[in-house]
Amino acid sequence: MKKMNIMVIFGGKSGEHEISLISAASILRAMDKNKYNIITIGITKKGIWKLYEGPIDEIENGNWEEIADRAERKEGFKNRMSLLPTGEDNGIVTLSNGKTEKIDVIFPVLHGPFGEDGTIQGLFEMMNIPYVGAGVLASSVAMDKGIAKKLLQADGIPQAKYDVIRFKQYKQDKTGIIEKIEDYFEYPVFIKPANMGSSVGITKAHNRKELKGAIELAGEHDRKIVIEENIGGREIECAVLGNDDPIASLPAEIIPTAEFYDYHDKYIAGTTRFVVPADLPEDTTEKVRDTAIKVYKLLDCTGLARVDFFIEDGTDRILLNEVNTMPGFTKISMYPKMMDVTGIKYEDLIDRLIALAIERFNERN
Ligand SMILES: Nc1ncnc2c1ncn2[C@@H]1O[C@H](COP(=O)(O)OP(=O)(O)O)[C@@H](O)[C@H]1O
Ligand SMILES: [Mg+2]
Repeated sequence: MKKMNIMVIFGGKSGEHEISLISAASILRAMDKNKYNIITIGITKKGIWKLYEGPIDEIENGNWEEIADRAERKEGFKNRMSLLPTGEDNGIVTLSNGKTEKIDVIFPVLHGPFGEDGTIQGLFEMMNIPYVGAGVLASSVAMDKGIAKKLLQADGIPQAKYDVIRFKQYKQDKTGIIEKIEDYFEYPVFIKPANMGSSVGITKAHNRKELKGAIELAGEHDRKIVIEENIGGREIECAVLGNDDPIASLPAEIIPTAEFYDYHDKYIAGTTRFVVPADLPEDTTEKVRDTAIKVYKLLDCTGLARVDFFIEDGTDRILLNEVNTMPGFTKISMYPKMMDVTGIKYEDLIDRLIALAIERFNERN
């Protein structure tokens, strides 16, 4: 059988660049080299695309860029690439080393803005190349916490009480906005930039002073800010895989050591506990899985997504927190671990994602 040409794209302009490098290295190691001919493209933090042909380990530790640059100098070509929407030659990519490749599937292993938010997906649509994961709409809706909440609310998905403000509005009328928030919410409240990830720019504000600081901080990351009531409870996640008939994994639980699962707790402290699968009553497990699938379909997700919930102390309400269309994907990340305990091994997961990308593409054409 002819090998498939898979283009794996990693890095990117978002604050989650480093997470992408680790996810991509893990995926590249696991991909079956007998089945796939792999072309790797790194996107620098500045947004420059570079063809990368060096060792996988050097992606993870960030040295890939220097190696790509060295190859560029040595071989005397501009180490970049172009995607050509050439009609008949769909999926043809010209690498600036003179080579032209027909790409069968693109695997964008990118998290956050410009990777997970529909922008690069739009580029792939224009190119007419199948790609792993959610399409333009699902990607962008899931990325925008304000829009996602509003859409899911319309469909009756239980969520924390929330509101959305514009940072500009706040700057014009600070007192008015603060008073409105205090009328509607009890402290503590969560303040989040609408379009971010990795807990960047998120604050749990306990009083007016912290609230002001929190809004200023969120405003550095986005023009739109989401305010949420604090949910005291357990953090439960569920992995979903598929296109029209998705399956949901056994859920898992995250037990942060900080007051909430903030950036430090996620990536630096290393003290968070992960319980996979989560210790939940059977009916709760089933309800989480059903809701995860419902949410996935409502947002029109394809490929994969991790759907995150809270289970509220006292009431046991299952509240949706957020949907991640390109969740962390190292071998020990939550998404692969949840799929693993559900019976889908990491290597099989990658094969399935590639097959789902082709299935979706064929159905749309
Ligand atoms: N309404 C809330 N109540 C309690 N904790 C919350 C709430 N919203 C967020 N958190 C905490 O903040 C973390 C990050 O928030 P989240 O909305 O998941 O943003 P991100 O997209 O950055 O992961 C969550 O994992 C959770 O620990
Ligand atoms: Mg989250």
